[in-house]
Amino acid sequence: MAMDPNAPADTSLPIFFEIAWEVANKVGGIYTVVRTKVPVTVAEFGERYCLLGPLSHSKAAAEVEPIDKPASLPLAQTLDSMRSQGVHIVYGRWLIEGAPAVILFDLASAKKWLGEWKADIWRVARVPTPDDFESDEAVVFGYLTAWFIGEFHARLTALRPPPASAYWLTPPLEVDPKKSSADVETEDNIVMAHHPIYSRFRSINYPDGSWKPIIFAQFHEWQVGVGLILLRVRNLDVATMFTTHATLLGRYLCAGAVDFYNYLPYVDCDAEAGKRMIYHRYCIERGACHSSDVFSTVSDITGWESEHLLKRKPDGVVPNGLSVKKFTAIHEFQNLHARAKEKLHEFTRSHFYGHFDFSLDDTLYFFTAGRYEHRNKGMDMYIEGLARLNARLKQANSKTTVVAFIVTAAPTHGYASEALKGPATMKQLRDTVESVSKGIGKRILETAARRTPLNPDDLLTSEDLVLLKRRIYALRRDNLPPIVTHNLAEDAKDPVLSQLRSCQLFNNRDDRVKVVFHPEFVNVNSPILPVDYDDFVRGCHLGIFPSYYEPWGYTPAECTVMGVPSITSNLSGFGNYIEEVVSHPSDYGIYIVDRRYRSPEDSMQQLTDFMFNFCNKTRRQRINLRNRTERLGDLLDWKRMGVQYQKTRWLAARKKWPESVLVDVTSASASADSAIPLTPFNEHGDGLSVTGDLQSVPGSPHVRGQAGADGFSEIGSEYGGATSEEDGKPGEAEELEQEFDDWEEEEDDV
Ligand code: UDP
Ligand code: G6P
Ligand code: GLC
Repeated sequence: MAMDPNAPADTSLPIFFEIAWEVANKVGGIYTVVRTKVPVTVAEFGERYCLLGPLSHSKAAAEVEPIDKPASLPLAQTLDSMRSQGVHIVYGRWLIEGAPAVILFDLASAKKWLGEWKADIWRVARVPTPDDFESDEAVVFGYLTAWFIGEFHARLTALRPPPASAYWLTPPLEVDPKKSSADVETEDNIVMAHHPIYSRFRSINYPDGSWKPIIFAQFHEWQVGVGLILLRVRNLDVATMFTTHATLLGRYLCAGAVDFYNYLPYVDCDAEAGKRMIYHRYCIERGACHSSDVFSTVSDITGWESEHLLKRKPDGVVPNGLSVKKFTAIHEFQNLHARAKEKLHEFTRSHFYGHFDFSLDDTLYFFTAGRYEHRNKGMDMYIEGLARLNARLKQANSKTTVVAFIVTAAPTHGYASEALKGPATMKQLRDTVESVSKGIGKRILETAARRTPLNPDDLLTSEDLVLLKRRIYALRRDNLPPIVTHNLAEDAKDPVLSQLRSCQLFNNRDDRVKVVFHPEFVNVNSPILPVDYDDFVRGCHLGIFPSYYEPWGYTPAECTVMGVPSITSNLSGFGNYIEEVVSHPSDYGIYIVDRRYRSPEDSMQQLTDFMFNFCNKTRRQRINLRNRTERLGDLLDWKRMGVQYQKTRWLAARKKWPESVLVDVTSASASADSAIPLTPFNEHGDGLSVTGDLQSVPGSPHVRGQAGADGFSEIGSEYGGATSEEDGKPGEAEELEQEFDDWEEEEDDV
């Protein structure tokens, strides 16, 4: 139903700005946070939601559809006013599920004010800004953000009363009734998302009867912190939330050889930041953290770190979710695994040509992936673990071969010629085999048509044999299959390559563990490994991420929702979260290396055991495990996780506007009487995740029983009682095995 733009706006409904460096600008996990959270946020705020970020011309061109004219007058006026002063802004629709509005500022177009703004941030907040490209960009972005929000707020408030359209940051989508039902269905999904079906509250009851816009601004990470500091010093009537996904000092300290977790309470923050030349960035981060109405982190472990390094205990924890897709056919994801694995087989045949003497049926694919932080991401443990696994498999005379990938992004000078030879050689072989097979087919057809007896010896001609021999000859190689696919800019110093060399993982014939270091994120256009990341993960058997520093760690979480078992560590936010909500995670294909309470050697042993035991599983056991892993995906759905972000907003509103009352509009009896009490803090500083006041959205079908008040607390017991690999007691896992048995038998028959 079309909405009337001229009807009076419901000014008690909030407007929501979400600000992050990675809006339509993929760098790492924060992009995944904002992108995957959009559908639930749009469901809650509808067209009253807009994301702000810096403009990356190339990425925005592929992800954002520009909109000429905003439907909202104050928004149009604000953009016009900024543009008239030379600021280049892209306003448009982000082409992702939920299709929200985005505003991207071209930082170069505002650099002319850099000097003035640097002086100002020192004057108003005592943040020093020596020459540093990254912090300069943070300053420019911050001033543009505060300018935009401040001016929009003023222009909106000036409208008395504002029309409904003033609140439409995203122009409502129209559905053309003439379109086919399939089209309408697709658009309808988006339109539906614009209805505030999950809206939880309104802010009402101002004592003097007046209205004011209720505006929330959610900031992610230090790069966007300057804007938050400015809203605070300018005393703008906007409720602010700051979420940190890591701390600057934490990341830097961990990357060095520091016993971080024992040293944490004693860190002299200013001095350490100074030594690392990041004191000014640290000031922005700490300033933003203290300026926000509500401060949150993505995990308890990062909360603890923030308490010591940023000197503020988080008001709550907002664990990361994902947009979980359920297939209508329950085993579709297994078929996807088989199809994606075929692509990895294709790679293996060509990469290991000349040495391809192992069975693909007995080959397992392991991988690690993520930004290039050798120690923080646990790549060091992974490689050492692979070397030990290699020795153990050899010793056990195992017929299993493990192809182990390391996917990251390092500076390179393009693909290594040796790595390009494989696909080229295989292509020639495939072309020859295809043409020979065509000839054979033709000859069989002709012979059969003449009704003459077939002589198999006549099927291959002598030319065919020569051609084939030539191709087979070309498969010989004097060197070993390469362990790295690209020419690294710093080959001699590269930490992964150096470690592979020192561990003697060289892809020798008798090695049961073969390694492939791919120092570029995988993409479907690669001549060597042409798969996108999702397919790559699906095709693998085990993701391995034994991180040392990992505030959350999306990579194992993504494995889980795709039904791929993974190894993580209890120093990662994700690992801790899973330990908290699932009583025997290993039964569900999530193995957690204890890097907290064990010696490094014991942790190494544990990791090697996990990998070795995985290698000893039968295909049937792997299929079962994948089924169980995939079922955990619901735990990570934003429909469940998003409630924590809602709580940060209630909390911010209650702090900012204590005179207002929040009510849950989803409850039929929404009235001032059903006011939601302020979420209290608790001892652990994670009040939001533990002491929720609301029911989360309905639990997923397999989460039986009563969800806890916050949708999390009872889940642990629900997933408990599975057949434990540790205690061997029967439980849910056993039932699940039974459940999938029939299907597997069909599989075996095939
Ligand atoms: N990623 C990717 N391609 C790759 C490797 C990683 O797109 O080849 C993505 C991955 O899907 C994940 C993000 O990069 O969403 C990494 O996020 P994570 O939280 O694990 O780590 P961060 O880089 O933020 O520290
Ligand atoms: C999926 C497919 C099966 C296939 C199996 C291979 O379950 O549906 O057809 O046999 O994967 O599993 P594996 O662990 O050996 O890759
Ligand atoms: C950061 C962290 C990562 C986390 C991501 C999203 O980049 O390094 O652990 O998953 O943010 O919160």
